[in-house]
Amino acid sequence: MTDSIAIDARALDKWFGEGAARTQALRGVSMQAHFGEMVLIVGPSGSGKTTLLSVISGILRPDGGSVTIDGVDLWAQPDDGLADFRLNRIGFVFQDYHLFPRLTTAENVAIPLILKRRPWDEALAEAARYLEVVGLAGRAALPPVKLSGGEQQRVAIARAIVSQPDILVLDEPTASLDGDTGRTIIEFVKHQVLNTRRCIVIVTHDSRIFEYADRILRMEDGRLKGIDAGGAR
Ligand SMILES: Nc1ncnc2c1ncn2[C@@H]1O[C@H](COP(=O)(O)OP(=O)(O)OP(=O)(O)O)[C@@H](O)[C@H]1O
Ligand SMILES: [Mg+2]
Repeated sequence: MTDSIAIDARALDKWFGEGAARTQALRGVSMQAHFGEMVLIVGPSGSGKTTLLSVISGILRPDGGSVTIDGVDLWAQPDDGLADFRLNRIGFVFQDYHLFPRLTTAENVAIPLILKRRPWDEALAEAARYLEVVGLAGRAALPPVKLSGGEQQRVAIARAIVSQPDILVLDEPTASLDGDTGRTIIEFVKHQVLNTRRCIVIVTHDSRIFEYADRILRMEDGRLKGIDAGGAR
């Protein structure tokens, strides 16, 4: 039996810019991802991968098409409903981390829990536990600027998984990590998320991750092209 559909994106269009600079980043993109599945999206720079992730995660409103997350029409919700839905259901790792420079590493990781009104001490303790998991136990009190790129990336990953969202979306999560660290993190994420039948979507150029995927979708010029079997099938 296959698991139910976590993400059902239909005919997504997205335009950027004005006049002569107007470009279409998504051209009628449809995709599905199931609970219990890890889906990779690959493709050249500028093909629309980050745009697609942002649209299916409730960050960027599409100009056409629909996104249904576990039966909920994502973009039909009012803004505050959308923010709540994202907080409770979707963990997102940005390509450029988006850490808060004035907070410590542990505070950055604790943010989703604070937003969910968990007591401060409890949230920080949980954040420390996740920092340990990504190999940054000794860095909890430092601001992000004191960390390397790969360390910042791991903080962003810890922040995305700390509240145990059932859908996890990662944009180039291993780009700044060396081979062993990248593999360790992906194995951890996959184990964590799929053990509980959640859904993971990852954009990556990193061929070391391919073997962990259930399916690989290929993006080109705003369209999803072929579908490859991943290494895990
Ligand atoms: N905020 C924006 N304003 C204008 N154009 C944008 C914006 N974001 C993306 N684009 C354009 O949309 C297209 C797709 O961009 P996107 O960032 O989705 O590509 P990508 O596949 O993630 O690339 P990369 O692998 O380099 O991260 C590109 O042509 C890009 O220039
Ligand atoms: Mg991108």
